[in-house]
Amino acid sequence: RKVVLAYSGGLDTSTIIPWLRETYGCEVIAFCADIGQGEEELRGVEERAYAGGASKVILRDLREEFLRDYVLPTVQAGAVYEGKYLLGTAMARPLIAKHQVQIALEEGADAVAHGATGKGNDQVRFELAYQALAPHLRVIAPWREWSITSRREAYEYARAHGVPIEWSTSRYSRDRNLWHVSHEGGPLEDPDWEPEADVFLWTTDPTCAPETPETITLAFEQGVPVALNGQPMGLVPLMEALNALGAKHGVGRVDLVENRLVGMKSRGVYETPGGTILVEALRALETLCLDRETMHFKQALALRYAELVYYGWWFSPLREAMDAFVKVVMRNVTGEVRLKLYKGNVWVVGRRSPYSLYREDIVSFDTVGAYDHKDAAGFIRLFGLPLKVHGLVRRGLRGE
Ligand code: ARG
Ligand code: SIN
Repeated sequence: RKVVLAYSGGLDTSTIIPWLRETYGCEVIAFCADIGQGEEELRGVEERAYAGGASKVILRDLREEFLRDYVLPTVQAGAVYEGKYLLGTAMARPLIAKHQVQIALEEGADAVAHGATGKGNDQVRFELAYQALAPHLRVIAPWREWSITSRREAYEYARAHGVPIEWSTSRYSRDRNLWHVSHEGGPLEDPDWEPEADVFLWTTDPTCAPETPETITLAFEQGVPVALNGQPMGLVPLMEALNALGAKHGVGRVDLVENRLVGMKSRGVYETPGGTILVEALRALETLCLDRETMHFKQALALRYAELVYYGWWFSPLREAMDAFVKVVMRNVTGEVRLKLYKGNVWVVGRRSPYSLYREDIVSFDTVGAYDHKDAAGFIRLFGLPLKVHGLVRRGLRGE
């Protein structure tokens, strides 16, 4: 028997390796995905996995794929969960699961395992992806099976099984990648508790951010960011540069109470510095390039897309179909957006596009051009006809 574990190197998954071996007597392959969680988190993961008894450790750099195939489609769809959450964890799970399944098939494993708890969203996201991609694999979710009930116990179990893990003094449960870092748990579980400075890992406190605003220019081609301040860049370096800029100016902090898929509410604090800038910029460019009806239709789709990503329905025909729509919509979303960053804020100060539907000769009040003021009178009469009929009927009047 062979199991492929989605391994982060943290306390939970480090405990899981010896537990799987002890409980199932199986061989454990630890798969660690680099999705931009940073050197600090990746340091020593291999050693830790082998010390815990893994037979093999596989590390894959998925940063580019994460941005290209998961983040971008979600951003282009305009998906934001419950108006605030930019879905950083939710987008990463299906990617990790996809590679995990691929490795399981390559290595001839018969099961996959993950370290998500039985109370959260992540277990659902991992397992829906497994179901969609390899329904025959057995799924092991230790948090739903073992008798360990606290992080302290997990730590003691790991130490007793020779895993060289340090006791972390952090009060929070976190998840970090190239897009965001999330903070939950500990004192944050009181929704009335104001986050203290130790919550934040990435962004400058907006009140301490630079006193002068910084103006940046982002260029897009068909909805894909391609250059920053005139400098063409690949997705990974561009995201890193945007993150550094956003973090410096304290951009992208949100604090919300969200509805988890498993029914309970959860209080979360997120830092999404570069992502917040990117989302703002693309939205601004869309306002120039998309016609009204397409934009409004897309807004409705964005809500569904956000739910779908949050719920872990990534590998679904619905997502593919929505992506096909978004791809067509993005064809004309090309151009440049200028933004200012200042003390936690990002705001758009200019936008331009070769496909701009904003035509000064039409919108200006000063010129006649393609728009004749007189046309408006007939339009208003017909557009308001249902209201007029309603008004007449309600008042018992007859139309003249
Ligand atoms: N609540 C967020 C979500 O559901 C963040 C979850 C963070 N996950 C974690 N394992 N710490 O996407
Ligand atoms: C977990 O329960 O593993 C983290 C939180 C979540 O998945 O929502």
